[in-house]
Amino acid sequence: MSKPLSIAVAGLGTVGAGVLKLLSENAEIVAARAGRPVVVGAVSARDRLRDRGVPLSALRWYDDPVALAADPGTDVVVELIGGSDGPARALVEAALAAGKPVVTANKALLAVHGAAIAELAEARNVPLAFEAAVAGGIPAIKALREGLAANRIRRVAGILNGTCNYILTVMREHKREFAEVLAEAQKLGYAEADPSFDIDGIDAAHKLAILAALAFGRPVDFAAVHVEGIREVSALDIALAGELGYRIKLLGIAERTAAGIATRVHPCMVPVAAPIARVDGVFNAVVAEGDFVGRVVLEGRGAGAGPTASAVVADLIDLARGRVTPVWGAAAGLLDGAPALPMERHVGAYYLRLMVLDRPGVIADVTGILRDHVISLEAMLQRGRAPGEAVPVVLTTHDCEEASMRAALARLAALDSVLEKPALIRIEPL
Ligand SMILES: NC(=O)c1ccc[n+]([C@@H]2O[C@H](COP(=O)([O-])OP(=O)(O)OC[C@H]3O[C@@H](n4cnc5c(N)ncnc54)[C@H](OP(=O)(O)O)[C@@H]3O)[C@@H](O)[C@H]2O)c1
Repeated sequence: MSKPLSIAVAGLGTVGAGVLKLLSENAEIVAARAGRPVVVGAVSARDRLRDRGVPLSALRWYDDPVALAADPGTDVVVELIGGSDGPARALVEAALAAGKPVVTANKALLAVHGAAIAELAEARNVPLAFEAAVAGGIPAIKALREGLAANRIRRVAGILNGTCNYILTVMREHKREFAEVLAEAQKLGYAEADPSFDIDGIDAAHKLAILAALAFGRPVDFAAVHVEGIREVSALDIALAGELGYRIKLLGIAERTAAGIATRVHPCMVPVAAPIARVDGVFNAVVAEGDFVGRVVLEGRGAGAGPTASAVVADLIDLARGRVTPVWGAAAGLLDGAPALPMERHVGAYYLRLMVLDRPGVIADVTGILRDHVISLEAMLQRGRAPGEAVPVVLTTHDCEEASMRAALARLAALDSVLEKPALIRIEPL
């Protein structure tokens, strides 16, 4: 067998320790598939004394992770620190500049600085691999960039954040409100102490920006992603969606339209019969639609030590074998220059719930405003009668433009008879 591939691992937290464990427990199978052993030579983390459940005494220890880029015994640098800037970015840039291939799980870094980092990798002709950065253990990057490489991708969509999917699933199954379920998820360790990256949709947007770059062969463009999280999803809307035949999911969707590339993360109503509607709990899913292949659905664990290590080591096996693909699937000069489509131009169907005073004329006011903005109704549901009190009125629309819907919504919210901020959820025919 050839010379071992010697790696340096920066970050020994959930993912880093998981990678060391996998490489030790599956050493034989990894060596067979890589054509040579994959061995850890050097590591870096903040706390040298912390027990990480894996032996470290035989490894070269670096307090400064950036110094791993210059470690003479290292063939590949594995960045598992996290964060879009700071030591993670410094290490990745230093390693690429030094001609060392990089494997990273860092979606924030790739979403925010991925265009420049990919250019650096290409200019130096150094591989940059990041299977673990999107949907954890699901081989979504490989599927899009390699398995589906022969297709024009029309759309890629996914459940890209396990924390949000877990919260929405518990809210539906137990008819509970968001804040209560979030607090419990934090206690159980399913949500971070500061959960905003997850529940405000930012983590999903990082991953979607990467998927869109791969699906459409274009530099990553995080700033173009429209982002909404799940804080405003209520148990009532989840129940009403169920009555209408839908589930509410936080999706990331990237689509090629005639006017440009749309990328958006927001709560969606998907038909209960859609495969993605049944992906519950912490699971992730990615759905891609190609012109020759049709629809491909991938589902699995999007986080955790085992699934993420599985993806990191798959990248290491590719590098050991010398299998290298351009970062976004094509050389920089051949990338697609289609413009980003702003959210105002999105066209789709909507679910709208208003809490209105039950009194004559209210429905006429509401439908009048929708008519003024050329929004046609698909269905209307009024639950219960309580003269003089608030009742929910649910409307679903045919396709209309987001800009019209927002203008109508502002007028609806200003009506005396509308008592709370209206709830708006986009309907996706996935
Ligand atoms: N967790 C997942 O399931 C998952 C899934 C997919 C992708 N990812 C990505 O994988 C990466 C790592 O995530 P994680 O969950 O493993 O994070 P984590 O558990 O917080 O571990 C981070 C590691 O980085 C080390 N570190 C932090 N700052 C450092 C510094 N200045 N110098 C040296 N080491 C430093 C920490 O050292 P100490 O241990 O000494 O504090 C720790 O070992 C992130 O980019 C994340 O987005 C994670």
